[in-house]
Amino acid sequence: MSTLTATPLAPLLNRLFVEADATSPADSPLWANMSRDDHARLMSSKTDYADFYAQLKDYPLAVSRETGALLYMLARSTGARTIVEFGTSFGISTLHLAAALRDNGGGLVITSEFEASKVARARHNLTEGGLIDLVEIREGDALETLSRDLPESIDLLLLDGAKALYPQILHLVESRLRPGALIVADNAEYSPEYLARVRSPVNGYLSTPFAEDVELSMRLR
Ligand SMILES: C[S@@+](CC[C@H](N)C(=O)[O-])C[C@H]1O[C@@H](n2cnc3c(N)ncnc32)[C@H](O)[C@@H]1O
Repeated sequence: MSTLTATPLAPLLNRLFVEADATSPADSPLWANMSRDDHARLMSSKTDYADFYAQLKDYPLAVSRETGALLYMLARSTGARTIVEFGTSFGISTLHLAAALRDNGGGLVITSEFEASKVARARHNLTEGGLIDLVEIREGDALETLSRDLPESIDLLLLDGAKALYPQILHLVESRLRPGALIVADNAEYSPEYLARVRSPVNGYLSTPFAEDVELSMRLR
């Protein structure tokens, strides 16, 4: 058994995913009245992201079950001890990452979220999952909260906040990524600048699209 497949985490994640499946942001008033082009523009905006996510604060916007399992496996198989996450929301991805740390023998997930109500929900879920002792939730804009006090060496980075900020967040964390560190970026297609950066080996990464939504990259040096 692993922490991921045992009680209390397995039934908790099952419930959270069922709730997430039942609340599509596509049904929100914001989304429903938006053209496809406007949606793509907002997802890629470096200036409108705070308002966009504020309007979606009641939606979990979680990674898929498959990406959650992938996160657990990547963190476990690399023996990760230090993980940074951009975009906590209700903590569904964080639960997978913290479960891997538990099964690796301990460590720390530093995760970042600017919606106060989401921070409270994530804290509640991580407590219910028995994993809160492995997680530091930094409340505020990640451009600020992830600009300081990071571990010397980071094993895994999950990018799942405002897509247009992926290059800036990567820049904040880059000097701490150990050689071989993994970066998982969800829906990175909304940041061509990010994809260009990690897909060019001269920048020190190997990178490949993986599954439906994920760009998986590895730090080379
Ligand atoms: C796609 S959701 C994250 C889902 C989460 N990783 C999961 O799978 O459960 C993105 C989250 O990032 C937050 N966010 C977006 N931009 C942010 C920023 N600049 N700083 C902090 N949080 C941000 C949003 O409020 C939203 O809750």
